[in-house]
Amino acid sequence: MHRRRQDVAFSFNHPRFIESPTDVMSELREKCPVHYSTEPSVHYTLSRETDIVKALRDEKIWSSSCGPGLAFSKPEVGVLVSSDPPKHTNERIAISRIFKPSIILKMETDIQKLVSEIVDAIEDRGRGDLIQDFAAPIPLTVMCWMLGTPTKDVNLFRNWVLPMAEAVTYAGGRDASKEVKDAYRNFFEYFGSHIDARKKSIKNNDQHPDDLLTRLLTVENDGVKLTTKEVLGFCQFLLVAGSETTTLMIGNLLHRLMEKPSQLQFLQENRSLIDNAIEESLRFDAPVHGLFRTNTRPVTLHDVEIPINSKVCMMFGSANRDPKVWAEPDVFNVTRDLNELRNHTSFGVGAHYCLGAPLSRLEGSIALTAILDRLPRIRSNGTPTLTKAGVLKGFSKLPVRWD
Ligand code: HEM
Repeated sequence: MHRRRQDVAFSFNHPRFIESPTDVMSELREKCPVHYSTEPSVHYTLSRETDIVKALRDEKIWSSSCGPGLAFSKPEVGVLVSSDPPKHTNERIAISRIFKPSIILKMETDIQKLVSEIVDAIEDRGRGDLIQDFAAPIPLTVMCWMLGTPTKDVNLFRNWVLPMAEAVTYAGGRDASKEVKDAYRNFFEYFGSHIDARKKSIKNNDQHPDDLLTRLLTVENDGVKLTTKEVLGFCQFLLVAGSETTTLMIGNLLHRLMEKPSQLQFLQENRSLIDNAIEESLRFDAPVHGLFRTNTRPVTLHDVEIPINSKVCMMFGSANRDPKVWAEPDVFNVTRDLNELRNHTSFGVGAHYCLGAPLSRLEGSIALTAILDRLPRIRSNGTPTLTKAGVLKGFSKLPVRWD
C-alpha cells in the first residue's frame, strides 16, 4: 500500500502547473490519481472524473464544513459552501429562492443594457484589454446590483477580489501577503457598515431595495435568521465566486474563439450554438481548477490511504478532460451536444452545485452576443497575462484589437 504518492510534480503554485495545467492534469490522471503534496501544506488531489463525481455526491465522507479552500476554516460557522447537511440543506432552500432562474431572467434586459453601454464606451478605440474593459465590469456590476452597493465601486471591489481568490490555495492566514490582508480588511470595513446601514433601514421600515442583501438579512428558516457574521461571510464568498469566475469564463471563451477564428466565424453564422460555446468553454477551461473537501473518515483509494481530516482537492478541470468520459477531450468544439456538455464539473457536482450557474450563463451569452454583433473582427493584440490566483484558470489581461 502506498501511503503517499508524489509521482507527478504538482502543486497549484508549481511553475509547470501554472504554464501547462492540462498536461499536468493528464499525468495526474494516468500516473497518480490520488496525489499527495506538502506544498504549501499537506493535501491530496483527485483527478479522475469517476472518483471526483462519486466523492462530491457523498457529503457524509467528503465534508465541506472546513471550507472549500486549502486552509481549514472553523467548522460550522460558514454559510452554504462551507456547510454540510442538514445545515446546508436548510440554507440552500432559503438562499436558492434568490437565485431562481425566473428571478435571474428578470435581469436580462438590464444586463443587455449594461453590456451595450460597456461596448459603447470602447467601440471607437479599436483596441483594449478584454478583461479590464469588458469581462470584469459585467459580473461585478451585477454583483453591485445584487448587494445594493453603488456601481462606481466596481474597481474598488476588483482590487479586493483578486487577492481574495489567491487566498483559496494558501495554507492559512499567516501565509497571507499584505495585499491579501488589506483586501480582507477593506472588504470587512466596507461591507460591515453597508450591512449595518441596511439592517437599520429594514428595522425602521425605511425605503430599501428588495435585493439579494435584503433577502439574506430577512430570510428565515425554521424561524431562524442568518447572523450578521454569516451574511458578511457569504457576501465575501459571493463577491469572489460570482464575479471573478464569470470574468474568467468570458475571457477564456473569447480567447479560444480568437485562437480559432474559424469557430468565431462559425458562431457568427450559427447563433443557436452560443449556449454550446459557453458550456464547451466551461468544460475546456474550467475557471476554477478545483476546490477542497475534508474527509470525515480514513479513505483508501487507488491504494493510497487518505487519513481522516485531510484536505482533498477535487480537480474539476481534470474531470472535464478525462478521456474515459469525453471523446477527444482536448479538442475545443462548439458543436458538442448541449445536454452532454452540461455534465462538465465546472459548476461543481451534487449538493453544492453552483447556485449562480444560470446567472453566469446568462451573462456569458449576452457578452458573447454583443461581441459577435458589435466587435465581430475582434482578435488578439499581444500576449495575455495569466491570473495570479493558483486555483483559477484564465487571464488577468487579454489585449485585443478590432476594426
Ligand atoms: C463561470 C462562473 C462560475 C463558476 C465556474 C462557478 C463555480 C462554482 C463551483 C465549482 C461551485 C461548487 C463549490 C463546491 O462544491 O464546494 C460553486 C458554488 C456556488 N456558486 Fe458558483 N460559479 C460561478 C458563478 C457564480 C455566480 C455568478 C454566483 C452568484 C452570483 C455563484 C454563486 C455560487 C454559490 C452561492 C455557490 C454555493 C452553493 C452551495 O454550496 O450550495 N457562482 N460555484
